[in-house]
Amino acid sequence: MEYTLRKAEPRDVSDILRLVKELAKYEEMEHQVRLTEKDLLEDGFGETPFYHCIIAETQENSSDGLKVVGFAMYYFTYDPWVGKQLYLEEFYVMDEYRGLGIGSDILRHLSDLAMKTRCSGMMFVVAENNESSVNFYKGRGAEDLSQEEGWRLFRFDKDSLVKMATPAEE
Ligand code: COA
Repeated sequence: MEYTLRKAEPRDVSDILRLVKELAKYEEMEHQVRLTEKDLLEDGFGETPFYHCIIAETQENSSDGLKVVGFAMYYFTYDPWVGKQLYLEEFYVMDEYRGLGIGSDILRHLSDLAMKTRCSGMMFVVAENNESSVNFYKGRGAEDLSQEEGWRLFRFDKDSLVKMATPAEE
């Protein structure tokens, strides 16, 4: 299977959203996706990009002969102990294209980028019941920090933020 990896461009937002929804469906949380193509366009391709994507594209099955079959969404974070980190936010290859090495190639690409930008690690979250992915990552050396160091993942949702924020003026 011929495929190429490339940086996402603004024209990719509909494919990115399609794959985001497919991954959410795979995780049985499709109803939680509220993002639109417009959000993706503004947030990823404006003056301050809030995310970046690597796209995997094959040479078949669409009018222009190219089909987006996988992607990784990432950004950079900062750890006050060790400095720059790559954060892998989304990682997905369509079912019928799995097991061909595309995922490993995307990780190689991100590892190269991490080395180039002198990041000291790559962080990501995996659902506890996503056993095949847990094995996929562990087989490549990933540590399970919840298990090994006892970290717990927290979030303030929008309601909590509104309560803590300065009240809006009447
Ligand atoms: N489906 C799933 N996994 C398969 C497979 C198939 N049809 N065939 C083989 N595999 C195994 C391979 O054994 C290989 O593992 P190993 O190299 O440790 O032995 C691995 O899965 C596939 O490697 P590769 O082909 O390089 O990756 P990929 O292109 O299948 O992509 C994922 C890997 C994780 C991105 C992809 O399986 C996926 O999208 N999974 C569902 C979504 C998901 O869980 N994403 C991660 C969220 S944290």
